[in-house]
Amino acid sequence: METKLLDVTDLEHAGEKLAYAGSVLRAGGLVAFPTETVYGLGGDALNPNAAADIYKAKGRPSDNPLIVHISEISGLEQLAGRVTDKAEKLMEAFWPGPLTMIFEKSGEVPLATTGGLPTVAVRMPDHPVTLALIREAGCPLAGPSANLSGRPSPTRWEHVYEDLSGRIDAILQAEPCRVGIESTVLDMTEDTPAILRPGIITPEMIRDKIGGKVVYDPALFVNRPRDVSAGGTPGGRADGSLLEQTDGPAPKAPGMKYRHYAPRAEMILYQGGAAAVRQAALKRKAAEEAAGRSVGLLLFEGEDARLVAREFFAELRKMDASGVDIILAAALDTSDPVGFSVMNRMLKSAGYRVEQV
Ligand code: TXA
Ligand code: MG
Repeated sequence: METKLLDVTDLEHAGEKLAYAGSVLRAGGLVAFPTETVYGLGGDALNPNAAADIYKAKGRPSDNPLIVHISEISGLEQLAGRVTDKAEKLMEAFWPGPLTMIFEKSGEVPLATTGGLPTVAVRMPDHPVTLALIREAGCPLAGPSANLSGRPSPTRWEHVYEDLSGRIDAILQAEPCRVGIESTVLDMTEDTPAILRPGIITPEMIRDKIGGKVVYDPALFVNRPRDVSAGGTPGGRADGSLLEQTDGPAPKAPGMKYRHYAPRAEMILYQGGAAAVRQAALKRKAAEEAAGRSVGLLLFEGEDARLVAREFFAELRKMDASGVDIILAAALDTSDPVGFSVMNRMLKSAGYRVEQV
């Protein structure tokens, strides 16, 4: 299949292209679209065949549910069963934006879209192109990240082209994504909302709006979940590590259990003070190069976690493109909730290989 490239950078003059993309989606086709977080792979969320095609195009296991994207809060009614007051407060505060909420699903959402689960994940993205596309399509859009399963999420249309060209109908070309990591996924089906995937909407921000408790899914930690409602930080263990759980509960977001965000190169995270990390990384680099291997450094020294979030996936792809054999990266400070969210991705990219220095 030939994948059409549709440049919608100039949104005011993109009407025809968006109308075309909408018609492709209505007919059951797949169109990749920009959002504020990462690029998504869109298909009609109410069409089980479109959902099946999304899994196929991504090479994604079909038990890993898709997020459904809407353009108006009123679009939730068709998708979700019970919507609590807390959820209403949160959508009021954060939609459109990088917060996904999980609800009991309605009868209209096919199990193909939810990976067989009785719940549905919904978000309203904060990007004019995505909102316009959903309106054109006239249906809610299932939208996983538009990468091949296991690869770093795409934050530029070129990344989508690299992974999915020839496998989908079209790609909307727009600016690089400004958040750079995927939305916070919040389970609203229990009394106490639980963060299943951390993002830039932090527990503190959620707590402020609902005036009550919010927890992290225990599977995000080696140890027990931390109640962050009392103003505690999500810093993981005292030694700062957030290693993969081996014998604890399975993550409630099926996607969190898969190998993810993997660069082709081997990757090692160094954890410790900035100076010690730099020294250890440079020493290792010299040793690797002496052995004939090429090395990429990702030290992000002094950078804000939000900036690292924006660049991290793109940096991994850049390193792969330049053919490095090994990536040496500095771990982030996980007492900052956004640092914690980026580290969640970094650890997966590194296959949980961490060296304390
Ligand atoms: O920022 C984002 O959320 C991006 C953009 C495109 O919107 N989308 C995205 O989708 O990251 P995806 O499919 O790559 O990740 C969805 C995550 C997975 O970890 C999945 O397991 C979880 O959300 N999820 C989806 N529906 C769920 C459900 N009903 N229950 C539990 N977890 C769910
Ligand atoms: Mg993904």
